[in-house]
Amino acid sequence: MRNINEFTITQAVKDTFKTEEGSRFEQLLHGLIDHLHDFTRENQLTHEEWMRVLMFLYDCGKISTPERHEFILLSDVLGFSALVDMINSKGGATEGSNLGPFYLDNAPRKALGDDLSDGRDGVTVLVRGKVTDNLHKPLAGAIVDTWQADAAGTYPIQEQAQGQDKMDLRGVFETDDQGRYWYTTVLPKPYTVPYDGPVGELLRAGDRHAWRPAHLHYIVRAPGMSSITTEIFFDNMEYLDNDAVFGVRKALIAKIRPVKKGEDLGATTTMTPEAVVDFDFVLAPAG
Ligand code: BEZ
Ligand code: FE
Repeated sequence: MRNINEFTITQAVKDTFKTEEGSRFEQLLHGLIDHLHDFTRENQLTHEEWMRVLMFLYDCGKISTPERHEFILLSDVLGFSALVDMINSKGGATEGSNLGPFYLDNAPRKALGDDLSDGRDGVTVLVRGKVTDNLHKPLAGAIVDTWQADAAGTYPIQEQAQGQDKMDLRGVFETDDQGRYWYTTVLPKPYTVPYDGPVGELLRAGDRHAWRPAHLHYIVRAPGMSSITTEIFFDNMEYLDNDAVFGVRKALIAKIRPVKKGEDLGATTTMTPEAVVDFDFVLAPAG
């Protein structure tokens, strides 16, 4: 390895790893080294520039805690999270979108027609639809796990110090025998991803904002089907065309409309809705 130079170093580094030939690990590791070395050569990186990158990563690590995931946020604002979602969305199924940092895996079970707002102010909206397979067959007993921000754009989990219950504005529903789900909730507002750390500094350096359009989060699953993690957005709302984390897809934008006077919504709810959003989820078979 004494005759190593700017061009031979890439292969030399790859050769030092004893990886199983043809394995996925080898493919990903070699690809990473190839791309990073090419990037470094193509841009003729200076010591100062490379040190700036390393210090940025150090700062991301320093601010990270079990509740604050700066590297995930970095992946989000650079479009990596969205790219992985896109690559892994199955043909025929509802497209995937950001999980985000506020999911809790033990949200309370709710009955169809329940209200998620827990008394919060805002527009009461009926969210309803079907879960089907990709041949339009309704999936009875599918699980619709949802969580969201309030009408001020805040997740209760962010406000626990102010006495909010982190389990508010989230719930797990089971579809009925026709694959239907419905519930009421408060219409969420846009909010900013955290921008008081190194990722915020990166956004400011690129003259970018930190806003996300209003959305509802979902994980939908059913036996024998691939589960999906996705979001529903609302038409005519702010930031649909410049989501800070690239989560919006055309097919995930739902129409929101006011309830007409005396309208039969065909759904029993504990709260009287002022607006309706219809959205159907499609799951593809597992495997
Ligand atoms: C969210 O949608 O909750 C979210 C996504 C990415 C970063 C921060 C928040
Ligand atoms: Fe969110």
